Amino acid sequence: MAFEKNILCIGAGYVGGPTMAMIAHKCPQYRVTIVDINPKRIAAWNSDDLPIYEPGLDEIVKAVRGRNLFFSGEIEGGIKEADIIFVSVNTPTKTFGAGAGMAADLQYWEKTARQIREASQSHKIIVEKSTLPVKTALAMERILTSTANGIHFDILSNPEFLAEGTGIKDLENPDRVLIGSGETPDGLKARDELVEIYANWVPRERIITSNIWSSELSKLVSNAFLAQRISSINSISSLCEKTEADIAEVARAVGMDSRVGGKFLNASIGFGGSCFKKDILNLVYLCRHYGLDEVADYWEGVVKINDYQKERFILNMLGAMFNTLAGKKICLFGFAFKANTGDTRESPAISVSRRLVEEKAKLVITDPRALINAEADLADIKEEIDLIEDPYEAAAGCDAIAVMTEWDIYATLDFEKIYGNMRKPAFIFDGRNILDHSNLFKIGFNVFPVGKPPLTHF
Ligand code: NAD
Ligand code: UGA
Repeated sequence: MAFEKNILCIGAGYVGGPTMAMIAHKCPQYRVTIVDINPKRIAAWNSDDLPIYEPGLDEIVKAVRGRNLFFSGEIEGGIKEADIIFVSVNTPTKTFGAGAGMAADLQYWEKTARQIREASQSHKIIVEKSTLPVKTALAMERILTSTANGIHFDILSNPEFLAEGTGIKDLENPDRVLIGSGETPDGLKARDELVEIYANWVPRERIITSNIWSSELSKLVSNAFLAQRISSINSISSLCEKTEADIAEVARAVGMDSRVGGKFLNASIGFGGSCFKKDILNLVYLCRHYGLDEVADYWEGVVKINDYQKERFILNMLGAMFNTLAGKKICLFGFAFKANTGDTRESPAISVSRRLVEEKAKLVITDPRALINAEADLADIKEEIDLIEDPYEAAAGCDAIAVMTEWDIYATLDFEKIYGNMRKPAFIFDGRNILDHSNLFKIGFNVFPVGKPPLTHF
């Protein structure tokens, strides 16, 4: 069968895999190929055990793989054949040199731009899918047009807004798709071509267009606003703990104002995930670069409150458990940065684990999906840690449970049974406020939620 278009995606990660699977699923008329420099990842995408866990992903990949979705390590060949290339490589925080710890590390992205330039023999549309600093498209254009081979490239920005754990739903029914382009006739033509791809399943009114710089910046700002809501509610959770106010009641009252809205106001142990912190720091770095120090300080506060929230959680544990955790056994319920994913990048559970081990506690970690990643994240302190998939077995013999991830299963466990097998006095620190606190208290636990008065038997 002849396909109408050849679409290539460079980068087979949490974004590249699911987004391209969705395009292939919704558009059988296109051939979609995903390439990656990591052969293990490609092999996993071609196996029955996909490299990432995302509800609904397996079904889609199995339906379209080999039909119009292909995973391959052949980057050069893929580039040659493609009409449209999505670039979805990682853009982590730089760990070295100028801007270390703040700026985006653009080495993977730049290498891709050069690969595209070297391998291309015909006109292509290049789509920035990775999250990038504003003005990156300009650098992309300069790299791509720096040889005199006459090949024309159109660069578009099309940031991804999916959240892990709900990625397939988000892709199938997005709040909006944003496409930024140059305002030249070629730029607008390329933009319309990308609009047509999404219009196969996304209502036109939800496909919005803008200039390319607005699009790049909107992605950073979207994540900054989302993270800011979490830091706002978390900052107030500390005040609730001092004043006997209840953060859930405050969030409900505030969120029912339709101008504020009720979503993303769950107080927690802090936000994690590969992007919030990195994208805010990137925004902060850009602001400082342009001399906007007050603006930079404002956004940096969001990350500072997040660090404060994690440290506060540890200090609350320490204070509640008679100011020493040395030799105590603590069970972490969950290690993923949020429910319904195995991803642990920047998970609050990582820093909490490290701090508890610093306090000389012993850890038992349980999680339905993230234990392999947990083992890798904590390899240097593995002597202090047991990884046990069954939560009942994990909690047995422990002094305390600390809820790190809001997996539904934790709310439905038999806590009488768990209490019976723990050391006494037994403590629960609910870093996600997902458990039935008064019931736990009745069972005998000393209960410490986030932003609510503790329930203790002392
Ligand atoms: P990831 O690390 O899971 O995947 C990136 C992939 O790119 C890796 O498999 C890596 O091997 C590959 N890669 C790197 N350089 C390459 C090259 N030169 N050629 C071929 N492959 C190469 O990252 P991710 O989570 O998918 O994120 C990708 C981008 O999307 C980032 O900019 C991120 O900020 C953004 N983003 C992520 C999410 C998310 O939920 N994870 C959501 C929205 C946006
Ligand atoms: C986030 C954004 O929601 C996506 O729109 C964006 O595309 C993505 O980042 C990205 O650029 O990578 P993600 O990090 O996958 O998605 O998940 P979120 O649902 O945003 O949760 C992030 C963190 O905030 C998690 O640790 C979560 O537990 C925490 N959170 C979320 C709270 O603590 N409270 C809340 O009310 C909501």
